[in-house]
This record gives sequence, C-alpha cells and structure tokens, in this order.
Amino acid sequence: MEDLQRRAESAENEIKQLMSRIEELRKQTTTVTPANDSEEMEKLKVENDKLKYRINIMKRALTETVEGQFSIIGELKNIFKKSLIKSYPESSDFNIEVVISSQPKYGDYQCNSAMALSKILKESGTKVSPVEVAKTLIGNIPANEIIELLSTAGPGFINITLSQKFVVRQIANMCLEGVSPPKVDKKKVVIDFSSPNIAKEMHVGHLRSTIIGDSLARLLEYLGHDVVRLNHVGDWGTQFGMLLAHLNDKYPDYLNNPLPIGDLQAFYKESKKRFDEDAEFKKRAYAAVVELQAHDPDQTKRWQLICDTSRKEFQKIYDRLDIKLTERGESFYQDSMKRIVEDLKQKNLLVYEEGRYVMFPQKEGLNPLTVVKSDGGYTYDTSDIAALCHRLEVEKADWIIYVTDLGQSSHFESLFDCMEHAGYIDKNRVRIDHVGFGVVLGENKKRLKTRSGDTIRLVDLLDEGIKKSMDKLIEKNRDSVMSPEELEQAKTSVAYGCIKYADLSNNRKGDYIFSFDKMLEDKGNTAVYLLYMYTRIRSIARLANVEPKQLLNYAKNKGIKIEDPKEIKLAKEILKFYDVIQKITDDLLLHSLCEYLYNISTVFSDFYDSCYCVEKDRNTGEVIKVNMDRMLLCEVTANILAKCFDILGLKPVNRM
Ligand code: ARG
Repeated sequence: MEDLQRRAESAENEIKQLMSRIEELRKQTTTVTPANDSEEMEKLKVENDKLKYRINIMKRALTETVEGQFSIIGELKNIFKKSLIKSYPESSDFNIEVVISSQPKYGDYQCNSAMALSKILKESGTKVSPVEVAKTLIGNIPANEIIELLSTAGPGFINITLSQKFVVRQIANMCLEGVSPPKVDKKKVVIDFSSPNIAKEMHVGHLRSTIIGDSLARLLEYLGHDVVRLNHVGDWGTQFGMLLAHLNDKYPDYLNNPLPIGDLQAFYKESKKRFDEDAEFKKRAYAAVVELQAHDPDQTKRWQLICDTSRKEFQKIYDRLDIKLTERGESFYQDSMKRIVEDLKQKNLLVYEEGRYVMFPQKEGLNPLTVVKSDGGYTYDTSDIAALCHRLEVEKADWIIYVTDLGQSSHFESLFDCMEHAGYIDKNRVRIDHVGFGVVLGENKKRLKTRSGDTIRLVDLLDEGIKKSMDKLIEKNRDSVMSPEELEQAKTSVAYGCIKYADLSNNRKGDYIFSFDKMLEDKGNTAVYLLYMYTRIRSIARLANVEPKQLLNYAKNKGIKIEDPKEIKLAKEILKFYDVIQKITDDLLLHSLCEYLYNISTVFSDFYDSCYCVEKDRNTGEVIKVNMDRMLLCEVTANILAKCFDILGLKPVNRM
C-alpha cells in the first residue's frame, strides 16, 4: 500500500513537472511568430506532442495501480508478465497463464507456466529446468499488494496465496460501493438475438437465443458498454408470397377488419398447403412477392398486418420474460441490399453460377453465400451481408454478437470470411462472435416436441412452468405462510427463473434436456435452490434487525475484520466474481456464472453453519448478540448473488 502511494506520488510529481514544462513551451510558442521562425515552431510542436504522449502514459500508469474491483487472475498475470520480462526478456511474448487453484493446499491461485516456458527456452538454446524457471519468476515478481506468499511445488508449479490485507480491503470496498463493475474500455456492442420468423412459430430454439442473448446483453450492460439489442426477425422473403395471396383470398375485407387472423400458425399452414397443392395459387403467390418487393401499397399493407399480428404474439413472450429488444428485421435492409450487391459486383467478388450470383469464402470447406437468386431476389445471406454493413457503418459497432443455434455456424463462418475479404470487416478493430447453442431435448432425449409430435408453443411452455411452480409452492405449504401477492411473485420468479437458469447453467454448446421436474428441484445447481438461498441470506439481517444503513456505517467507521478460516474462504470466493466475469467476457459461456453462483452458495452455507452471525436467547428468542463483521459478509454475499441473478435475468423475491 505504502509503495503504491509512493509510486502514485512520484508519478503525480512528474506529471506536474511535465505540465509546467508544457506551459513554458506554450508561452514560448506564442512569442515566436510563425512568419519568422516556422522551423522553431515545428520543433516545439513535436516536443509538445511528445510530452503530451508521456503524460498520457503516466496517467495511465497511475490508473493502472489496481484500484476498484478487478479480475485477480488478470492482475496476477500482469504481475507475472513483469517478472517474465525481467527474467527472460528474450521470451517476453510468452503467454503466462494463471488459474484458480483446484485445492486449498495449492494456494488460492496457481501459475503453471514454468514447464512450458522451460521448453521454449530450451528450444532457443537456454537450458533451465522448470523448477529453476519457477524460482526465477518468483524472484523477479515486482512489489505488489496482492500476493502474500509464493511457493514452488512439484515439477515447477507456482502456488499463489493472496494477501489477507488485500482481501479485506477489496471486501470492505464492496461493502461501501456495492458490486461495482470492473473498469473496461467502453465499447459499442450489437447483439443480434431471439430473431424469430414472422408467421412461423417461435420455437424453443428461439427461446434459447432469447435467454442467452438477453443474459449476454445484461452482462455487457453491467460492464458499462453501449449495448444495442437487435431482433433480426425474418420478415421478408418468399414465404410472404403465399401468406399475402392467402390473406387476400380469405380476408378480402382485411382493411376494415383489423385483426382477422387469430391463429397465425394455422394460417401459415393453410397457405403452405395451398402453395404446395394449387399451381394457380402458387403463381399468384410469386406475383405477390414481386409486388411486395416493388413496394406495392396494398401488398405492403397486407404484409404489415401479418407482421403486426406476429409481433404482438412475440411481445407477449418478451413481456413475460422481461426481455427488451429493438426490432430491426430483414426488411429493414431492403434498400441497402441493392447498393451492396452492386459494390460486390464491382469489386468482382461475385461469381455467376446457374443463374445465381454467389460469393465464395477464402477458407476452404466453407459454403458460398447466395447473394442474388436466379429470379433476381435476395436471400437470408444477402440480408445478413447488409445487416453486417449497417452495424459496422451506421451503428459503428466495435463488437457484434450473433446468438443462434449451432446449425447456423457455417452460415456465419462464410459470412464473416466473405465480409473480411470484401474489406468490410477490419478484424483488428472489431470483434465478431457467433454464439452458437445446441438443441433442446425432451426427457426422451429427442428434440422437444408435444406428445402429438408438434413443435411446442412457447406460450404453452411458459404456462406449464407457471402451473408447475405453483404446484410446487403449494406442495410445500407455502400458501399457508405467504400472502397472495407474495405467492404470485414467487410463482413467476420461480417459473421463469427456472426456465432461464436451466438453459444458462448448461454449457450452451451442448444439447440440453428440458425437464420441469429437474429444474424445479430445490437441491443442487437449480434456480430454486439459489433463489431460496438468497431469501435465506437476506432474512438473516431481518432476523438480526440490522438495517443496510447500519451495516454501511459500521463498514465506514470500523472497516471489516475477516479472521476465521471459513470467513476467509467466503471472502476469497466472493472476489472470484471478477475472474468469472472476465472469463465470460472472453468465451461468452454463461454457465461459468451459474457454477460460480452454486459454489458461492455452498461456501456460504459452510460459513453460516459454523460462524454465528446472530445469537439468540434460547428461551425468549430475543437477539442478544450480532456479529457485524459477519453480517457484512452476508450482505456482500447477497449482493453478489443479486448481481449474478441480474446478469442471468432472474428475479429474486423476499419470500418463497
Ligand atoms: N430468423 C433466423 C432463424 O430463425 C435467425 C436470425 C439470426 N440472425 C441473423 N442475423 N441471421 O433462424
């Protein structure tokens, strides 16, 4: 701490000196008239720029002196990197890894890079054993406030124990400031998720995209990024031909009858049947698409009506799950598609093949994109090209994320490859991710379907969740102790919480089995267990009659004492939150956050079982002693849980 203070002071002094030097130079510059000495002026300008640059570096160095909350792994890596540069400057590019220790006997964190580093050194002619490398790295670790103890183990592992002072300080900050986000460079992020298709059903695949996309958006919003949540609905394309023609036949009076379609899916099926069976109808359907694409007012009105009907249905789901999205469907890009296709043609990037214009990716094995169909129409690929351009050029996105099933991986691979080749994407400036996910299976391990083999309607699924969660609450006699409002809140929190959590707690890359019975269990890594744990922790403060304000005052005036091994374990677990957040920001795998939630809950249980927080008189039940330091740990744990719930889109309740 003192060392830090000294460093900060000396950096500040240096900045002051640089500032006064700049001021001096500025004065000089004004006395030199450009007419008589432009060369001198130029020199001073260069000098000035150099100084400004140095100031910026100094300022950055100042802010880099680890303040606020941050990923400990990230910071440990920085520290080890500095040691690496000092120890083996010739290998300073080497990527040092730090991980959380698998067992307490190996310290809190571990650096296992000495083995790989020794190999690399050997290849370049320096023979040092991994143990020696580990020792040298340890010897050159710069002064820091995070590490208390470093030791080598086995063939060259480095075990890292955190400084107790550091842990206490970070927890104390969390008491005072809440679970504040780590500092990040603010980015403009576009997340394309949910994106169902108009008139077709919104299926469980879209549900997954909705849940995962919303959670990623919540995470990035928490980190302070500027997030645009886009619903790239399928609202354009040939299927509209048959819908328009069918609407015209069935409801010629649609203008005076604003909501003729009750069941859009049935309507879709009817029109599909006619399209497949009736040649004359098919002809009219094709003609309708052409008219729509030429902006015929009547067809446009019909199209609007169909989209509105779908939109209302989608919105019901979004409202229930509390999901915010901005609709910007495929049709939005109609006009820009023409321009972009022209540009691609001009750049000679399109190949004319069997009447179609296609674009081949550079990487082998990828499918070409169909940019223009043989009838001159555009495709899903074309609208994705245009959407990507819009996100880059108009939205000025630094980061674009697509959340769809893994089945679309090759589509996105081709898209990104082609767009990079066309010069639209600059990989050094933008990050682009396809966040793919597996299939939702039923308990029979086959694709989730209704008993009759139909796709499950999402509304029905949510209704069933509500019913089952209520049954569960009643089974546990919660209705006898909770008010009707509390019961209502608990019911929705559990129902939607468990559906979201079941999805998010599974590695998204795998398929997952949808089972209400499993997700409603109150043991293990389930939403029910965690939501329950949260209410339990919150109720401790109620039991002790301690207001959050009192806790805050205590933390402000007295700080926090963390001494018992179980308290220390909990505190260290709390601080891992930022490591997990960092990891998810890199790999976009949200199940790590669920694993963390579950771990911290079990560590808390362990702490609570053996560390008294509130002591009560056995006979009267009166509170006789409250351990405020432990109450603070409870408070911070609950705040961490609440933050995780918030990121996952779960809504905790006071009672359940
Ligand atoms: N509507 C598509 C589907 O249901 C998903 C769209 C995903 N987003 C995108 N930009 N392609 O499969």
